[in-house]
Amino acid sequence: MDLSDAKEEVKKAADIIEIIGQYVQLKKRGQNHIGLCPFHSERSPSFTVNQDKQIYHCFGCGRGGDVFTFWMEYHNLSFSQSLKDLAERYNIDLPGYKGLPEEKKKAELKELLFKTNGLAADYFHNLLARSAEGKPGRDYFSRREISQETISRFQLGYAANKWDGLINYLKSKNISLDMGAKAGLLIPKKDGDYYDHFRDRIIFPIFDLNHQIIGFGGRVLGDSLPKYINTPETPLYHKGESLYGLDSAFRNIREGGLAIVVEGYMDMLALRQHGISNVVATLGTAFTSNQVRRLKGYTKEVVVLFDPDDAGREAALKSFPLFLNEGISAKVLVLPQGEDPDSFVNRCGLDEFRELLKGAIPIFDFYLDQTIARMDGGIDGQIKVLGEVLPIFMEVESGATRFLYVQSFSEKTGINEAIVWEELRHWEDNRSERRNTARLKSRFFSDQDPRKYGSDLQFLNLLVHYPETRDAFKDKEWELIVSDPEIIKIIRVLMERFPSGGDLGRIEEFLVSPVAREQLRVILMSQPFYGKELVNQAVSEFAQKIAKIKISQSISHAKAEGDMEMLNRLLKAKQDLDVDKKGI
Ligand code: CTP
Ligand code: MN
Repeated sequence: MDLSDAKEEVKKAADIIEIIGQYVQLKKRGQNHIGLCPFHSERSPSFTVNQDKQIYHCFGCGRGGDVFTFWMEYHNLSFSQSLKDLAERYNIDLPGYKGLPEEKKKAELKELLFKTNGLAADYFHNLLARSAEGKPGRDYFSRREISQETISRFQLGYAANKWDGLINYLKSKNISLDMGAKAGLLIPKKDGDYYDHFRDRIIFPIFDLNHQIIGFGGRVLGDSLPKYINTPETPLYHKGESLYGLDSAFRNIREGGLAIVVEGYMDMLALRQHGISNVVATLGTAFTSNQVRRLKGYTKEVVVLFDPDDAGREAALKSFPLFLNEGISAKVLVLPQGEDPDSFVNRCGLDEFRELLKGAIPIFDFYLDQTIARMDGGIDGQIKVLGEVLPIFMEVESGATRFLYVQSFSEKTGINEAIVWEELRHWEDNRSERRNTARLKSRFFSDQDPRKYGSDLQFLNLLVHYPETRDAFKDKEWELIVSDPEIIKIIRVLMERFPSGGDLGRIEEFLVSPVAREQLRVILMSQPFYGKELVNQAVSEFAQKIAKIKISQSISHAKAEGDMEMLNRLLKAKQDLDVDKKGI
């Protein structure tokens, strides 16, 4: 089976709306589905999916493609792996499909890393679950009220207190130690030998959304430092990109429309154990925009539960602009002094935890309170705070929300509301200028005449939406009327590969240039520019344009050659064309 067949098989079965809809909330809008882009920050949807053509395109960041491109980008996987994943999902056999040679090495490495991680997780888990060596780990978990069920559900483990426990296990499974090091599990010594990275720690495997292990966290059993160590950067694990527990929570988050976010492994596990299914952990203190962007595909409501220490408060504060940028309405719950979610729920139980959750305050209020608490007295302090919050107010799109924000701000700071509005208008003016120029710049390729460019797009739109018109131009020098080289590339593929129609879903395969691919997607997703009744007229106008340019070219040629007879004939022909045109 070759690549193209394999792709076709999967494409036939896979529905792009269903696939993307798992990770992005899509709404039907006209002929397309739209949602918030998972690949860049945005608050109003420009991410567009088209079911007929089975493609997606983000009008904000320009990313797009077919169901495979989405899978690759969203899960950070190779093409071959994506093809395999999707085939498996739809129960499609790909007999003899080998994958792309150029990505084979990378894909093989990733596959081996997943395998190594899987084996390591088995090893840690088995130690914890049943070996004599695992007793310290078992005692630790039972002290922290983690049940057997939770241990097996999250494949928790224990790394023995020695330097070569995992090493020997990997050897017995024929995994090279170099691979163990690449997975971040072993550390190379100067003499070419290795030692175990995780020793005498309880182990938390970290899963990706497809429930494969990308990395590990390990906690000491006592008070020694560092309390936690994690897998370093590897081809599978990138700090700040994943959320602990998301693979087992994202469906619940979507169904319930709410995500609870905590800081730590233990917090996540304790809440899960009490039956709270929509909780994930950030693993570290600060939220990243990658993590927020993941979440926003499932819900617009998030409650952030951070520890009541300075680090926790700081993390909550830092996350405010992130949420604002993604249009998520977040609430913050600062726990009672001395508690974290884990200790609280274990001490007080589920009901009290739910009660506590109700006290979460909008992150803006939290932000404001914190900022004001740090405000120095006097006018200087007021000016400083105003300078800090104005850019934030500007990001608030809803007029009503902004109104409430300003009101509550001026109440709390004692700064006259009128002054705040005045300052805000001032900022707004400056900003809209900046925005407009940026928008204009990005709209067209700046070095091109927008009129010509517009006509390029109209011509392409005609050819794309009315396949029968392609024939009229196939023997004409249509390149003469198209000035954008990227559009020329697209039309060439259309004419050569799809002369009389066919499924344009596959056309991207023939286009190398990313700019051309993007341009094409935009056209595929847009409505026909000409109504049916105008198609014939458009065809003849474009044909005349070509003819005119050709005549002008010949005229210059005849002039240069001094061929008067030819020149006269050409000038006559040109006149006729002009008359013709007026006649239409
Ligand atoms: N963390 C980390 N490295 C550290 C400390 C913390 O990566 N040196 C991460 C861990 O993912 C940890 C989270 O930050 O789970 C929260 O830290 P902390 O509140 O100290 O951890 P807890 O999970 O509450 O740890 P425990 O309850 O086990 O003491
Ligand atoms: Mn804790």
